[in-house]
Amino acid sequence: MKLSLDPAMQGALAEDSKRQEWFETVYSKAQEDPARVPWANLSAHPLTEAFVKTQVRGIDGLRVLDIGCGLGDNAECFAAEGAQVTAFDFVAQAVEWAKRRFPQTKVAYRQADLFALPEEWRGQFDLVHECYTLQAISVALIPQALGILRDLLAPDGKLLIVARARAEDEEVSGPPWPLPPSVFDIAKAQGLEPVVIEDIAATERIGRRHWRAVLKRAG
Ligand SMILES: C[S@@+](CC[C@H](N)C(=O)[O-])C[C@H]1O[C@@H](n2cnc3c(N)ncnc32)[C@H](O)[C@@H]1O
Repeated sequence: MKLSLDPAMQGALAEDSKRQEWFETVYSKAQEDPARVPWANLSAHPLTEAFVKTQVRGIDGLRVLDIGCGLGDNAECFAAEGAQVTAFDFVAQAVEWAKRRFPQTKVAYRQADLFALPEEWRGQFDLVHECYTLQAISVALIPQALGILRDLLAPDGKLLIVARARAEDEEVSGPPWPLPPSVFDIAKAQGLEPVVIEDIAATERIGRRHWRAVLKRAG
């Protein structure tokens, strides 16, 4: 497989469903220039930031996990409000880059693969945040990914999803693969029930239709 080509574009997802080599290549070829990382805005996602700012009880002291943290802006947004944040990405260069960008950070940045996380993380987080990582994972891995996210939650923990949305029957030519409404049925089958699901129309600021959803452990 050619390192610089996305397996999704080569019809090779079956062999490399996590697309890790492709993500590694993106960060490596960017050579510290964030303009060359398509998802790097150098600021927290507006929907994540608004969520953080509008929590009535605040998030001070909450144990937060940011999955697929990229260059760290979302993780830093939680930490700035007093959360105890762990953030991980499976690309070592992304993690090192995030640490260099925020030398005074209180975030614990780690290199880790969502599909092979440390056992001791199970049940440990009050809030698990994902922004644009589920939509970058091949559709076949979504049920497994959601099950892993559920297992990370403390008994009263919440999962916050910020992702591009699409209609069920809308054609997609991903990656990314905007999430259809049925993703919440898949979440339910994985033991996650909705607290709130917002279907947010495109605005000038966020460009496209999005989901912002909070889910909790079922039962
Ligand atoms: C589209 S980017 C979004 C980055 C960041 N969340 C943001 O909103 O800017 C997806 C990120 O998830 C990471 N990623 C994808 N699959 C992963 C996995 N299985 N484990 C850990 N990180 C993963 C990629 O390396 C990439 O940094």
